Amino acid sequence: MAKKINKIAVLTSGGDAPGMNAAIRAVVRSCSYYNLECVGVYRGFQGLIEADFEPLTARSVRNIINKGGTFLKSSRSEEFKTKEGRAKAHKNLIDAGIDALVAIGGDGTFTGGLYFNNEFNFPIVGIPATIDNDINGTDYTLGYDTALNTVVEAIDKIRDTASSHNRLFLIEVMGRDAGDIALNSGIGAGAEEILLPEEDQGIQRMMDSLEKSKKSGKTSSIIVVAEGEKSGKNIFQLAEFISQSHEEYDIKVSVLGHIQRGGSPSCFDRVLASKLGVGAVEALTDGKTNIMLGVHHQKVVHVPLETALKEDREFDQELRRVANITSV
Ligand code: F6P
Repeated sequence: MAKKINKIAVLTSGGDAPGMNAAIRAVVRSCSYYNLECVGVYRGFQGLIEADFEPLTARSVRNIINKGGTFLKSSRSEEFKTKEGRAKAHKNLIDAGIDALVAIGGDGTFTGGLYFNNEFNFPIVGIPATIDNDINGTDYTLGYDTALNTVVEAIDKIRDTASSHNRLFLIEVMGRDAGDIALNSGIGAGAEEILLPEEDQGIQRMMDSLEKSKKSGKTSSIIVVAEGEKSGKNIFQLAEFISQSHEEYDIKVSVLGHIQRGGSPSCFDRVLASKLGVGAVEALTDGKTNIMLGVHHQKVVHVPLETALKEDREFDQELRRVANITSV
């Protein structure tokens, strides 16, 4: 029989995402609700290795549901990738009387968590938090909705100046391996073309689409480029390439960068964080381990960490079709 859970640690790891604070709050308050002790771990897995712990009560997490970033701070720990680092982390958890861990983060976090569980059989559940939305088995990750709204607002502003000057704007958005931000923000902000990591359509397609836009009477254009797109050129090289054959375009490049990761979480992300935080504590007290809490068709689901890490997420062809039709 699984050991009874009395004390749960919570950490945030990898790139921060809006909604992480709301998820920590939900974990801490669920512990309080079920009379469990809760411990915050600072700086992700690195804090586990250095025993950077602090007891958290329901009142420790007041006034954070609306804050971006993570008050527990985050890191990408190199030391946790080593067996020795993970052994130190395990010893610290046992010494502190901690029975289980909630890890809030993305694929790097879940990979670390899986190794940790396999080596020490230590109960662990994950909450998906990354603006990229690139985790298998959940419809949404924390921070993605907020980031989309930030991106659309930024592109709307750029459109104002693009149309005032008849300019062509190339706008880079985040997404190393997944085009979710680019495709959805591109549709939402009315981009003429969207370049995605999941497609390798070559530069010619972008050039054809620019030609089409010109012929159809458009005087300004917005092209959304995911940072991981596969043309082999960075966004400045793409701009240079277009300018060689299209001197008539006044081309500008805008890299949105880390503003996409900040800001107050949207209501959607706050509610999702609350659902997943409660679900994480309840899963642990039910004896579950090695799972991620996800959401599918509005319902909280349990996804094995191995499944969450699979790289076979389906690309939304229907959304691509919608983008093609609405940009004519
Ligand atoms: O994984 C989230 C993400 O924001 C990616 O979209 C981006 O490529 C990366 O993190 C940037 O990471 P860093 O802040 O470490 O440069």
